[in-house]
Amino acid sequence: MPRSTWTPCPGAIHLAPSVLAADFGHLADAVRALEGGGAERIHVDVMDGVFVPNFTFGTDTVRSLRRETELPLELHLMIVDPERHLVTFARAGADGITVHYEVSPHLHRTLGAIRELNCRAGAAINPSTAAHHLDDVLEACDLALVMTIDPGFGGQELIPRTLHKVEQVRREVERQGLATEVEVDGGVDTANARACVEAGATVLVSGTAVFGHPGGPAAGARAVLAAATGGD
Ligand code: DX5
Ligand code: ZN
Repeated sequence: MPRSTWTPCPGAIHLAPSVLAADFGHLADAVRALEGGGAERIHVDVMDGVFVPNFTFGTDTVRSLRRETELPLELHLMIVDPERHLVTFARAGADGITVHYEVSPHLHRTLGAIRELNCRAGAAINPSTAAHHLDDVLEACDLALVMTIDPGFGGQELIPRTLHKVEQVRREVERQGLATEVEVDGGVDTANARACVEAGATVLVSGTAVFGHPGGPAAGARAVLAAATGGD
């Protein structure tokens, strides 16, 4: 079992490029092309065609990506029964595993199981799920992911209302005195990255804006990070 020693720098704004927006025939090149762009982790969207109407990567792809990059692999499981697949994804090289509240009736137990596998544990909520549903598990997770689009496909527009939920989750993390990261995922680009940070997100997932950038993924990553941090 890989021993993930990944500890994100607290207080920094982190960019997690989503390889869903990369060319699946050249994933290794896409990940290597991120070098120098400031990406702090790689966001890997796993979809089963049931929880979301799309299919993407399995454990073999995660294992291949593991060989291609030193960057932490943060898996976003958009699958039903995620608790059945934690060990295989951890063995494939995941550093973080995020599961959805909507398909995890025993979310607290599942988050504990992820941590038992030496992976950072994340809990995600869809746009139609109220932020307070995470209140009682924030202390059990290292990351709270607020979907800013309906999950399943990249290239969508960020849903502005979801930023109110980011504010709510941020407030609750602070009220409980936790170090849980707050992440936004979906439609994040140079136009809204700053608003995501101002709402309380410290981890920005971005696919299309990074891999679709005319200057290439590293330039795309730098552009989103510069927008998020006001160029700091
Ligand atoms: C969608 C995924 C997101 C998506 C983000 O279900 O969870 O990670 O790939 O890609 P963009 O930035 O293109 O919306
Ligand atoms: Zn995602």
